[in-house]
Amino acid sequence: MTASAERLLDGQRAIVTGASSGIGAAVARALAAAGARVIVNFIGGEERAGQVVGDIAAAGGKALAVRADVSREDQVRSLFAAAVDAWGGLDILVGNAGVQRDAALVDMTLADWDTVIGVNLTGQFLCAREAARLFLKQGARPEVSTAAGKIICISSVHDVIPWAGHVNYAASKGGLNMMMKSVAQELAFHRVRVNAISPGAIKTAINRAAWETPEAMARLLALAPYGRLGEPDDIGKAAVWLASDESDYVTGATLYVDGGMTLYPGFIDNG
Ligand code: BGC
Repeated sequence: MTASAERLLDGQRAIVTGASSGIGAAVARALAAAGARVIVNFIGGEERAGQVVGDIAAAGGKALAVRADVSREDQVRSLFAAAVDAWGGLDILVGNAGVQRDAALVDMTLADWDTVIGVNLTGQFLCAREAARLFLKQGARPEVSTAAGKIICISSVHDVIPWAGHVNYAASKGGLNMMMKSVAQELAFHRVRVNAISPGAIKTAINRAAWETPEAMARLLALAPYGRLGEPDDIGKAAVWLASDESDYVTGATLYVDGGMTLYPGFIDNG
């Protein structure tokens, strides 16, 4: 049988953090549609996580919902143990869990800072470390993938675009960029590939205020010259590619899936 594009991940096992809604849910569905068994991690929203698992099962895939706060070391350990219990190991980690706690710098509380750094950066570290430990222990499984493991960090265009009113978030994503590259450098020799996807404005609950009125949408589209808002599935497709052997020589890279947001569209008729 010729491998079809939808089955690029047959036989592989994945964890997607923050997968009960938005980008994470779309990534979980896309990986499952490509043949992977998926742990749908959530922290709140147990019902929504159950829905994602149900949708995957209805489409003929396999998934399991597991609650864990990625900023907590003990819970991250349990999350990865659940993957080993359920599927016998792991091939793909998609670190997606992320939060915003927006405030002007002068009003930003230490709790706002700590929460965002804790989930968006420390959470990525804890999950990447646990995935790496497993990948190195398991070794390669050439029958399913050339690589001995894949880590995909879901970052943001704000790993390069400064963002007033969101210094905690931009700092977490800027930090994630160097964490991803340093981990990629460290693990390449072990044939573990580590990459990031940096989404622009994707239509999810996290940025509802930025698209829910026509005026807000017009302002947002001025920042995305491709002329539409991103859909969660735009990220799902990119994640399948980065998790598959189709991207086998790609490591330490950031794929901007942003409709041109990082092309500085403000310069189209200025400067
Ligand atoms: C943020 C969104 C924002 C987008 C573009 C994302 O990382 O979570 O709130 O709309 O970047 O600015």
